[in-house]
Amino acid sequence: MKITVVGAGGNVGSTAALTIAQRDFAKEVVMVDLERKDGDKTLYPSKGRALDQWQTAPIHNFDTKLTGTSEYGPTEGSDICIITAGVPRKPGMSRDDLLQINADIVKKVTHQLLEKSPEAIIIVVSNPLDLMTYISYKESGLPIEKVMGMAGILDTARYKAFLAEELECSPKDIQAQLLGGHGDTMVPLPRYTTVSGIPVTQLIGKSKLDEIIERTKVGGGELVGLMGTSAWYAPGAAAAQMAEAIALDQNRIFPCSTYLTGQYGLNDLCIGVPVKLGHGGIKEIIEIDMDSDEKKLMDESAGHIQKGLEDLKRILAE
Ligand code: NAI
Ligand code: 2OP
Repeated sequence: MKITVVGAGGNVGSTAALTIAQRDFAKEVVMVDLERKDGDKTLYPSKGRALDQWQTAPIHNFDTKLTGTSEYGPTEGSDICIITAGVPRKPGMSRDDLLQINADIVKKVTHQLLEKSPEAIIIVVSNPLDLMTYISYKESGLPIEKVMGMAGILDTARYKAFLAEELECSPKDIQAQLLGGHGDTMVPLPRYTTVSGIPVTQLIGKSKLDEIIERTKVGGGELVGLMGTSAWYAPGAAAAQMAEAIALDQNRIFPCSTYLTGQYGLNDLCIGVPVKLGHGGIKEIIEIDMDSDEKKLMDESAGHIQKGLEDLKRILAE
C-alpha cells in the first residue's frame, strides 16, 4: 500500500502522513509539497517534515517509510492520494479569489497525481471542501467511488468529543453521523445519535444538545480563534482514518463528501452523506430516512453548496 499526501509540508497533510505511519498499515507514504524560497535559500518543507517524522519510527514502532519530495516521480503507483494542498484566506483576499486559487491548485494536483497513479483513490481535504471534491471528481474522470472528500468524520468527531465531555463518558461509546456540507450548514442528526445504543435525547436535555450542535457547527472557527490558523490534528487524523478503512477493506461507515446522482433527491454536487468505505473506495452510498425537519436542513445545506458551485463555475469561466 503506497499513499501520497500532497500539501504535506503543511499542517493537515503532515499530520495525516504521520497518523498513517503510526497506524502502520501502509508500506510507504510520499509527502509532496512545493519548494519555498527564503532569501537566497531554497527550503523543502515536505522533505524536512518527512525526515523528522521518519525519525519517530523507532520511538513509535512503525515500519511505514515516509519520504518527502517536491516532484511527482516518487508518487508513481500510489494506491491512495490525499490532497491537502491549498492556501488560507489572507487579508484583502475575497472569497472568490480564494475559491479560484484553491480550485486551480486542486485541479492541477489532481492531474499531476493521476499522471503517475491513474488507478489511485483520491481523498480531498482542501477547502472549501465540498467544492474542491467536486472539482477533483470532475477533473479526474474517475468513477464516483474513487473520489471523496473528508469533512464529516471531523465534524462528527467534534460533536462526539463535546458530547463525551458533557456526559462524562468515553468518546468511544458515542455513535453519530453529521451530514451535509462542511461549514455552518452541516446537518446534525440527534435522532441518530446514541451512547452505547441509548438515544442521546434520553441522556441530555434539548437546550444543552442544541448548544453542543451549535458549537459543532462553528467548531472550525472556534479553533481558528484560538490558534490564528485552522485545525490540523483532528483533520489529519480523520483523513488517515479514511485511508485506513480503504487500505484494510474495513467496510467502515463514515460521513464523507461524495458526488450524488439522485440520492437524497440531490444531483450533480458533492455533499456529506454516510458511505461504506473499503477496497476500491466508496462501496455504497447509504440513504437514511430523514424526517421533514432533517430533510429541510439537508436541502438548505445542498442549496448553499449549489450556490458555491455556481460561483465557482462563473469564476472558472471568466
Ligand atoms: P497549510 O498552509 O499548513 O498547508 C497547505 C500546504 O499546501 C502548504 O504547505 C503549501 O505549500 C501546499 N501547497 C499549496 N499549493 C500547492 C501545490 N500546488 N502543490 C503542492 N502543495 C501545495 O494548511 P493546512 O492547515 O494544512 O490546511 C490545508 C487545507 O486543508 C486548507 O485548504 C484547509 O482549509 C483545509 N482544511 C480542511 C478541513 C476539512 O475538514 N476538510 C479541515 C482543516 C483544514
Ligand atoms: C475546520 O473545520 C477550517 O475546515 C476547517 O477546521
